[in-house]
Amino acid sequence: MNIVTCIAPVNIAVIKYWGKRDDELILPVNDSISASLDTHELCAKTSVMASPDFDADRIWLNGREESINNPRLQNCLREIRKRSQLSPETENWKLHICSKNNFPTAAGLASSAAGYACLSAALAKLYKVEGDISTIARSGSGSACRSVYGGFVRWYAGIDPNGSDSIAKQIAPPSHWLEMRILILVVNDERKKTSSAIGMKNAVLTSELLKYRAEHCVPKRVEEMQRAILSKNFEKFAELMIKDSNQMHAICLDTSPPCFYLNNVSFSVIDLIHAYNEASNSMKVGYTNDAGPNTVLYLPEKNVPEVLGLLDYYFPTESTKNSEYKRGNPPQSLPPSNELILKINREKSQPGQLKYIIYTRVGDGPTYLENPREHLLDSKGFPVGL
Ligand code: DP6
Repeated sequence: MNIVTCIAPVNIAVIKYWGKRDDELILPVNDSISASLDTHELCAKTSVMASPDFDADRIWLNGREESINNPRLQNCLREIRKRSQLSPETENWKLHICSKNNFPTAAGLASSAAGYACLSAALAKLYKVEGDISTIARSGSGSACRSVYGGFVRWYAGIDPNGSDSIAKQIAPPSHWLEMRILILVVNDERKKTSSAIGMKNAVLTSELLKYRAEHCVPKRVEEMQRAILSKNFEKFAELMIKDSNQMHAICLDTSPPCFYLNNVSFSVIDLIHAYNEASNSMKVGYTNDAGPNTVLYLPEKNVPEVLGLLDYYFPTESTKNSEYKRGNPPQSLPPSNELILKINREKSQPGQLKYIIYTRVGDGPTYLENPREHLLDSKGFPVGL
């Protein structure tokens, strides 16, 4: 059988998924919205192959063989095999999977979303599965269901206890809002975090704010966010994104035991963004934080030079020689004027608080790579180069 190779994007939510109504089926308590990011900067790549010659299902992740008995991985394989259009004989052939990310896992960026979306897309082609595959990706990791589409994507929480209506749909393709840019501020931080799965489980059990948010805040907010995206209303988009991110982290504090994903660097970035928007008398940039200290900025392309100038000024790097510090070919920074510095009226941070900055944009969903040189498995089905 052929090898199928696929790449899939990371997504960053602007209305957060935080809390499951069903842990087994990975069904959320509320709808969420994200943008899929350009795969040039951040993506997962996966090759899959099935063969009668293989003795067992096996998986290699980022160059190391891992256990195939991971329950979430097994969920994905079960869902795919349920919907396979192959003959029963070939369907039972064992499978080899090889996957890697084009960014360091240590960056603390959500890699499981891209990974499970990529695996689901690759397997869907191999097993000739038709139709929506977001439910398959969801069975591996909730947020992964949004990475099976490009552009702006909404994950509908659904109401069916079996999860049949808990699916993702594209709101708009990447070409819809071409001016939108993303800056990911990767914070130097070695602290071990509570996983999102544990964090949200405890939140569902103990946070009253979570219930209030799911019932009273998000239903209205997702509709407003969808409208802001469709009408390209950046002010509204940023306002809703900021509110929603901070509400998710408020729930984390309202949880017992509380979980702290933001650190002092995240708080300084957040404070700087508010001071800058206020000094500019307009919403120039919005921010959001997932389950970690890295802050992600969404902003119109025209504001990128000035925002980079601000970051250079308030978050200096340790070494000016570090060519890896700004990734993704950002434009030249525009240093802040004295007037702006006076208005912002904040202290500079110690050098080296940010590890690096990734400049990127909204991008496509999973893409199949047909060139055999792209495969991560060789013709016998073993990882290339291992
Ligand atoms: C903070 O999708 O990683 O990034 O479903 O348990 O795998 P599991 O959780 P995961 O949670 C992501 C949470 C988030 C917000 C979001 O992406 O919407």
